Amino acid sequence: MPSRRQHRDDFLIQHKPVLADQVLDALQPRPGMIAFDCTLGLGGHSRMLLERVTPGGQLIATDFDPRNIEIARTNLQSVAGGNFSIHHSNFAAIGKVLQSMSIERVDLILADLGVASPQIDDPARGFSYKKPGPLDMRMDPTRKESAAQLLARMTERDIREALLELAMKQIPRKSQS
Ligand SMILES: C[S@@+](CC[C@H](N)C(=O)[O-])C[C@H]1O[C@@H](n2cnc3c(N)ncnc32)[C@H](O)[C@@H]1O
Repeated sequence: MPSRRQHRDDFLIQHKPVLADQVLDALQPRPGMIAFDCTLGLGGHSRMLLERVTPGGQLIATDFDPRNIEIARTNLQSVAGGNFSIHHSNFAAIGKVLQSMSIERVDLILADLGVASPQIDDPARGFSYKKPGPLDMRMDPTRKESAAQLLARMTERDIREALLELAMKQIPRKSQS
């Protein structure tokens, strides 16, 4: 009998990606093309792309969440004859990833920005508003500091500067008053 985790992974693999038809219409993947998926997630879009660039093409994908990569890999392995490679990386490093594969150009790039449902649903990840959990909030749990550790070592000034740098500039000023 499958474990609860296996059951959930199977469910996630079967999940239909958002705007699937629109993505295919816009990108027009065809056999022989090289497709790059910046945000692999659970592999829903990647799988659709891989099915269409096969035979002769390949799919290259990045994600910085190893748990999502694990599920996506199973998803992509079911595409018969599919040529794919997955990189545990921030998509900001797309140039380095392609360089490491000696690829100079790709035919299409997809970036489905945001979070994947397991990242929100699992309270242990620290993103859930519904269920209590540790203040972790790492999309890539292999990074060394959780949100709780970061907050414990940052001064109020550090936090304000980080918010000024990373978020909309008005928000930290308002939160000070
Ligand atoms: C909305 S989900 C993608 C869902 C995916 N298209 C699918 O069909 O399953 C976004 C994914 O992008 C990843 N992600 C977000 N920002 C990233 C970044 N800068 N570099 C790499 N991956 C990133 C997240 O970890 C998450 O798995």
